[in-house]
Amino acid sequence: MIHHCTIGQALPTGAVIREIAAEKDLPAGFDAELAGKTVTIRRKLAPEEMIMGLGQAVGGVNRRGQRLRAWNSDDFSHTENKECLYGSHNFVLFINGAESVGLFLDDPGEIFYDLGFTHPDEAVITACNGGLDVYVLRGGTPAEVCRELRRLTGASYLPPFWGLGYIQSRWGYASERDVTEIVENHRSRGIPIDCVSLDIDYMDHYRDFTWDRRHFPDLKGFAAAQKADGIRLVPIIDAGIPVDENDTAYVSGREQDVYCKKADGSDFTAAVWPGRCVFPDFLRPETRSWFASQYRTLLDAGIEGFWNDMNEPAFFYSDEGIAAAYAVADELRGQNLPLEAHDRLKGAFTSLNNSREDYRRFCHTYRGGKVNHERVHNLYGWGLTAATAQALREDAPGERRLLFSRSTIIGAHRDGGMWMGDNSSWWSHVLLNLKMLPSLNMCGFLFCGADLGGFSCDTSPELLLRWLQLGAFTPLMRNHSAHHTRLQEIWRFDNWEAMRGAVRVRYALMPWLYAQLMRAGLTDSLLFRPLCFDYPEDGEARQVEDQMLLGEGAMIAPVYEANARARHIYLPEDMLLIRFRDADDLDTLPLKKGWHRVRLEANEFPLLLRKNTLLPLAGPAERSRDIDQRHFRVLGWCDRAVETPFYQDDGLTAAPTLAEGNALLTADPAERTGRLVTREGEWATDVSRVIWE
Ligand code: GLC
Repeated sequence: MIHHCTIGQALPTGAVIREIAAEKDLPAGFDAELAGKTVTIRRKLAPEEMIMGLGQAVGGVNRRGQRLRAWNSDDFSHTENKECLYGSHNFVLFINGAESVGLFLDDPGEIFYDLGFTHPDEAVITACNGGLDVYVLRGGTPAEVCRELRRLTGASYLPPFWGLGYIQSRWGYASERDVTEIVENHRSRGIPIDCVSLDIDYMDHYRDFTWDRRHFPDLKGFAAAQKADGIRLVPIIDAGIPVDENDTAYVSGREQDVYCKKADGSDFTAAVWPGRCVFPDFLRPETRSWFASQYRTLLDAGIEGFWNDMNEPAFFYSDEGIAAAYAVADELRGQNLPLEAHDRLKGAFTSLNNSREDYRRFCHTYRGGKVNHERVHNLYGWGLTAATAQALREDAPGERRLLFSRSTIIGAHRDGGMWMGDNSSWWSHVLLNLKMLPSLNMCGFLFCGADLGGFSCDTSPELLLRWLQLGAFTPLMRNHSAHHTRLQEIWRFDNWEAMRGAVRVRYALMPWLYAQLMRAGLTDSLLFRPLCFDYPEDGEARQVEDQMLLGEGAMIAPVYEANARARHIYLPEDMLLIRFRDADDLDTLPLKKGWHRVRLEANEFPLLLRKNTLLPLAGPAERSRDIDQRHFRVLGWCDRAVETPFYQDDGLTAAPTLAEGNALLTADPAERTGRLVTREGEWATDVSRVIWE
């Protein structure tokens, strides 16, 4: 089914403007063909045409030349050849000169994208599920087409203000003592921090909704004491529930019959961290409500935020898979193994993880009927996120809470944010994570970020520092690493003071960053945009993918190469270079439009600001709640009196509106002080560092 949505028409969220039954009604430039259950959409690409969107994937912002696949996958090796990662974001944006067309493919099954990979001048999209819903979004600029996607699919999740604070995480924190040590080591060195996220080690034998009572004897008291110190604990919750008669969640779910079923009606099982698990059938609203109710004990212990993981769903193996692998081993035992036989033996065991056969082994119940998992695979992650969001909403209906998830699909952007999954401590991943930001934003995911420092492999002091300098600008700022890798907390490195500088800059910028995020969310805009969105006529800007426009009036250009002490930065117009070292240690330099080679020592990182835009910096704070939101030092390069849109609210209340939060920063060359103007009043700002031309 093809739906046409024209920019400018008011679309109530999720409504379809006009339905056109025949595939031939795709707009000019597209062809569609239906053969059996396979829908193929083709587009001839103009020489300069760019293809964007598609959210979480390796490769460039302009995806032309890539081959991708929508199939949510637990894959910890994000190498260039990977066609899919954890999420499916089926929004493709074709930009050809002044014409932008977006296709939103609303389908939870596998979709193949050949975007000029086989033939450079042709894009081919193939979906094999049958019943594909295609929404055609057109008639505006790229940003307007992206806005239309959100009008159609819903507004983006917005976090509480504290969710923008620095989060320290590691697979391995296992006790109150560990958390205390982490917090103390940040506090004693003046490194700002707001959250410690708890990985599977806090649980009792990796079982959801439990905690290890030996190491967290009084979670409620501990969480309360931490909160009093400005620290929130953010535990992980995984998708699988262990098959264990002593597990309260398991028994309750079995009684309510909420688990995914095999064809014979029995519960499907596969192994994850705790061993053999069942998997809630999140497609059923009753299951989501049941799962939401399981959060009660953690919520009662004072937990206010969660991260959801393994929700592709990820499987280590199934009993059937193991049996099949052993059958191959038995068959080949004692034989001489030529290449093919050896490959078969090896493959029988290495393909046990997340096997396609396992996904075919079970069904969901949807509107009274049975649906094989394979047909709706990419929805599973959303279900876990939606259930968690429900739990948080029911617990505190008036409040925004923190939630980010690994496996997502367009639609899940309404319920929570996401992190980019198991990256590696590789320099190339700093750039990869930077490029993913606008692609995710285009698909509605605004609250996102990467594991700073890298998840797998050992990080280096310089790599972590440069990654933190990028993370200073991403809404989710979390340092996370895998067990058995080098310990990755800031204080463990010789250059910790430079790293602290990056986190302090983040805290000084937090009111501004929050304003940018909220304004983007409340106007269905992008927080991070490629330069070509705002400068479509600029041939240089079209090429740049290692700098991103941030919010209204700023641009980031992080260093992402080892030993680099400078980088090239393209300015699509005159801009002010701000070189940060620490919150109170920076220099500024007005620069003209064009290319510049900017020196950036290891402890320095840039933010570029459009002329006649004001950037407010808050005073020092080590907790988000201690940030003074009224008194700012303002930076800018202006040639006239200016008013910069701003946003402020209490950082917590649910359903914020732009009208309520709207604020302004003003500066006038004739006056010694600038002003912060909010609905609540006016405050003087220090504009002594604004450069007047
Ligand atoms: C997955 C997650 C990672 C987490 C680990 C253990 O790999 O992506 O963030 O640390 O599981 O829970």
